[in-house]
Amino acid sequence: SGHKLWGGRFTGETDPLMTAYNESIHYDKRMFNADIDGSKAYAKALKQRGILVDEELEAILTGLETVRDEWKQGKFVLQPSDEDIHTANERRLGEVIGTGIAGKLHTGRSRNDQVATDMRLWLREEMKDVKKILINLLQVFAARAEKEIDIVMPGYTHLQRAQPIRWSHFLLSHALPITTDLVRLTEVYTRVNQLPLGAGALAGNPFAVDREFLRKELGFDGIIMNSMNAVADRDFVIEFMFWSSMVMSHISRIAEDLIIYSTSEFSFVTLSDAYATGSSIMPQKKNPDSLELLRGKSGRAFGNMAGFMMSVKGIPSTYNKDLQEDKEPLFDSLKTVKDSIQILTGVLSTLTVHPDKIAKSLTADLLATDLAEYLVRKGVPFRQTHHISGSAVRMAEERGTTIDQLSVEDFKSLHPLYEDDVAAVFDYEASVEKRCAIGGTAKSCVVDQIKNIRNIIARY
Ligand code: ARG
Repeated sequence: SGHKLWGGRFTGETDPLMTAYNESIHYDKRMFNADIDGSKAYAKALKQRGILVDEELEAILTGLETVRDEWKQGKFVLQPSDEDIHTANERRLGEVIGTGIAGKLHTGRSRNDQVATDMRLWLREEMKDVKKILINLLQVFAARAEKEIDIVMPGYTHLQRAQPIRWSHFLLSHALPITTDLVRLTEVYTRVNQLPLGAGALAGNPFAVDREFLRKELGFDGIIMNSMNAVADRDFVIEFMFWSSMVMSHISRIAEDLIIYSTSEFSFVTLSDAYATGSSIMPQKKNPDSLELLRGKSGRAFGNMAGFMMSVKGIPSTYNKDLQEDKEPLFDSLKTVKDSIQILTGVLSTLTVHPDKIAKSLTADLLATDLAEYLVRKGVPFRQTHHISGSAVRMAEERGTTIDQLSVEDFKSLHPLYEDDVAAVFDYEASVEKRCAIGGTAKSCVVDQIKNIRNIIARY
């Protein structure tokens, strides 16, 4: 164990399983850029305090770029002693520029403030990508909603036929929470983008490094003001995993709706072949695997968050190795949410909608509320009209027909204020157009919703 960076006081060999159990290099090596960026900034801060002279700083900066290139070109050769990305880069820097100079880089720094810094830098960059693909998804929602605004479909509560709505209104009901996720992402970002570097192991930096310089140099929005909290805090990891599970739950819900709407029983939509699979035994089948995975993976995203929260809830102050358990769930959530947003984008932009089938599913039962509201517009209290419309539904049922087939005389027998114009109630387009208070399914309101989403996108 003599060649381990922390090997000074150790004499016994580490159990090989323990070495494997302890290492994080096979997953944290993805943070090599962040680690190098953090080290370059820290070297400059050390130079300002006279810990490094000009030539030493130059050697370190150049050496770090050499190490970065090795990673980029896939030429970095891992050694068994490379426990994590921090020890690997430092070991390699020593080989490239000599340990005499490389050995000064870690002065006053700890892997504790280093790893927290790397994680934040890495996640911050990933979040910029996530934002782009999320905006792309919202644009697909908005474009579809705009194009298909004239399709009127049954709306459901309890999965029971309820009232007519615009297909676009349905789409936008799923786009709106995802728009909020975009806003939420930028809020989480400011809390991710806080500087831990310069906190040392826990008590602070003994060489008075200029943390304001480090903040600016690394592009952080703020400095974590307590060194113990700086190394202990993983709220930003949890918050991002919460964000991911929130997005995934939104994705899961639209996936579920689309699975239902793609069944032969509904036939409202057909999934593109690009996002469906066949059955190995039943030739007629086209399975919505993409949508099922979107739904299924939401559980995984939530599990990542819940699992890590469980890991951190009882650890004592500052750094404990438990915190290394932040990485795999975070990386997994990031990949899951990124892939899922893109799959949903693909599904939505290639989905075929069937206006003819949807039109056939519009039946007069969906207008029972409108029938009641007809009387409300003539001054009858709603509670009464609800009952009267219910009687019409029963009358139609008893005669084996639907409410739109009842005669004006039938309606008049239920209430004298029903007149010839009651026939106008049985018009699905007219029904949706009546819902024109802000947020309703009338065309003008749906157009406003599209504008609202586009306005929000434009701000980010
Ligand atoms: N690989 C470690 C992690 O991810 C780095 C920090 C190690 N610090 C320590 N004191 N052992 O958390």
